Amino acid sequence: MIAQNLSPLPIDLNPQCLPQHVAVIMDGNGRWATRQGFPRVAGHRQGARTLKALLRCCKDWEIPTLTAYAFSTENWRRPTEEVDFLMLLFERLLKKELAEMNREGVRISFIGDLDALAPSLQRQIERATKATAENQSVHLMVAANYGSRSEMIHACQKIAQQVQQGKLDPTEITEKVLSQQLYTSDIPDPDLLIRTSGETRLSNYLLWQIAYTELYFTDTLWPDFDQSAFHQALKEYGKRDRKFGQVRLSA
Ligand code: FPP
Repeated sequence: MIAQNLSPLPIDLNPQCLPQHVAVIMDGNGRWATRQGFPRVAGHRQGARTLKALLRCCKDWEIPTLTAYAFSTENWRRPTEEVDFLMLLFERLLKKELAEMNREGVRISFIGDLDALAPSLQRQIERATKATAENQSVHLMVAANYGSRSEMIHACQKIAQQVQQGKLDPTEITEKVLSQQLYTSDIPDPDLLIRTSGETRLSNYLLWQIAYTELYFTDTLWPDFDQSAFHQALKEYGKRDRKFGQVRLSA
């Protein structure tokens, strides 16, 4: 992150109506690159720049948590060269951006089955997670080798073990107990989920956590999702009536 002036909250956004946690599915990198006549991987490189700009916006506009879907459990099915490029990109970014993340007060953490990642990448993840753990300006959570179904299976296995060991009675299994076994145990659920590039699927992303999340889909390709596109998404979010299953008595 290059030191920049603070970008003020646009006047048509009410600070009281901003999401506290935004989750993004960064879709459309490949199409963006192909349309410009570049190889697909150039789209991922540009996509990483977009993520950085969005993180800065979250920091400036006091949105405390941003969760980005960087690599799903299904993404291993992509061509080997693309998977290798992405892994190398994650590793390079973690090394290159660590000092700046610390200067900017960014906390970074990861969710997903990290054991399956290359040991060198795991080391960078551990290093960055530890080095930024106390930072408080904004929290970037990166979903890497993440899949919601496997996260839930994993949680069920841990709960089943507790039951088997006599530490938990089946009647004591509540939403809270299950939530506590997810990768996101200490993080409030997202308020807003954004998916770019015109796709309207959830693709195995945070399925438990988004039960009451507002969904926002846009045709904009991820590398083009700039501050003004985010502004639009937040404006739209501000108009939503979040009822959480209740009825408004005043309506
Ligand atoms: C989906 O677009 C994008 C990805 C699978 C990778 C996203 C990763 C980044 C933007 C890098 C972020 C870096 C860090 C460290 C978090 P796509 O390739 O499916 O696009 P397409 O649908 O146009 O083919």
